[in-house]
Amino acid sequence: MKRWKWVTMVSAMGLLFATALFAGGQKEGAAGASATGGPVTIHIAGGAVGNELQALEAESAAWAKESGNKVVVVTTPNSTTDRLALFQQQLAAGSSSIDVYQIDVVWPSILGDYFIDLSRYIPQSDISQFFPRIIKNDTSGGKLIAIPWFTDAGLLFYRTDLLAKYGFSGPPKTWAELEQMAQRIQAGERQAGNSDFWGFVWQGNAYEGLTCDALEWIFSNGGGTIVSDTGAISVDNPQAVAAVKMAASWVNTISPPGVTSYMEEDARGVWQAGNAAFMRNWPYAYQLGESADSPIKGKFDITALPKGNGPDAQGADTLGGWNLAVSRFSKSPKDAASLVQYLTSEKVELERAMPPYSFLPTRPAVYRDPALAGSSNAFIVKLLPVFENAIARPSTVTKDKYNQVSSAFWTAVHNVLTGQQSASDAMKALQGQLESIKGSGW
Ligand code: GLC
Repeated sequence: MKRWKWVTMVSAMGLLFATALFAGGQKEGAAGASATGGPVTIHIAGGAVGNELQALEAESAAWAKESGNKVVVVTTPNSTTDRLALFQQQLAAGSSSIDVYQIDVVWPSILGDYFIDLSRYIPQSDISQFFPRIIKNDTSGGKLIAIPWFTDAGLLFYRTDLLAKYGFSGPPKTWAELEQMAQRIQAGERQAGNSDFWGFVWQGNAYEGLTCDALEWIFSNGGGTIVSDTGAISVDNPQAVAAVKMAASWVNTISPPGVTSYMEEDARGVWQAGNAAFMRNWPYAYQLGESADSPIKGKFDITALPKGNGPDAQGADTLGGWNLAVSRFSKSPKDAASLVQYLTSEKVELERAMPPYSFLPTRPAVYRDPALAGSSNAFIVKLLPVFENAIARPSTVTKDKYNQVSSAFWTAVHNVLTGQQSASDAMKALQGQLESIKGSGW
């Protein structure tokens, strides 16, 4: 059997390149045997952050057993930005090595051409069971290029024990409140002997995750969504500048200096070790924090992120999420689609929403399942309105240029966080850069 590995290498310049390597042998089922023509092997590229891989391996094994086929899970890098680069490389080469790709909610227009229309294999009666907003997102050029698998929203994780210890009656409602609470708790915990303690951890690395975090600061402060729904570039405005400036002031005060290289799992590492009062992260981190060996088990809760500080302040939790798509180069599209249908079934989505996992379902019916409300993941039911109102990144309007837009945005914000540019200079320059990426239109 062929062995697959994504090998990631950090170049001298600090850029991450990823290459698919494989060694020896023919892919089982590569001859393209169909469901009726004997067992096939489906390769699925997915599962990385937290316990995603563990879940995917168990679910794939269950499908394999049920269908008589085989599944090889091809692991992918933690950074969604690196995953995109890798997938683009594979798909542009017309490679049939991967049948099913786990794709980010912001990629349908970028990768859409490479995937089959899943409505050919999955009946409308099933498609209609998902949140229509995500189905719309996953439809590109009239083609259903992916099935929603799990959704995401940026959330605030906070230590209930420490809030009580320092006399706070509830989580912060605004970023200004978060700053004050973080300062106070950090000072107190350090005084009590924990010199590794920080107020607030989040995702400050230069990658897609920073776009998500920075969109939350800016939108919550009344500064818009980088590019508006109608395609206007709106990032150079006083509220956006103030929001980015605010986040830069956290670095090395309430947040560790290293936060500018943190991704999701780095933030979770500090948080789950008990060394942070607050964390911005996605729901997956909830059950991991509640695991038997977690030092913070039973000592935290989650809620919507704080609002901005100005008169236009509002809540902002970035919409994330992952979908499953079948490559048009797959030699077994029918079986690949059957795996997708299984992984996104009500049964599997419920399993993934229940401990030891906490992935948000993409089917409204799962939120109504009494098992979920009665589990230690009841927050999933409680926070449904937050997920439903999550703020989308401007991927629909900027289409296949989204990654260029996002990359210019996270680079500009990162420059401010690392003190290389002032927030006003960075947003002004970004506005110009985005105008040239846009050119005559999106
Ligand atoms: C989460 C979100 C995804 C987002 C990524 C950024 O995985 O689900 O949409 O792009 O984080 O790091």
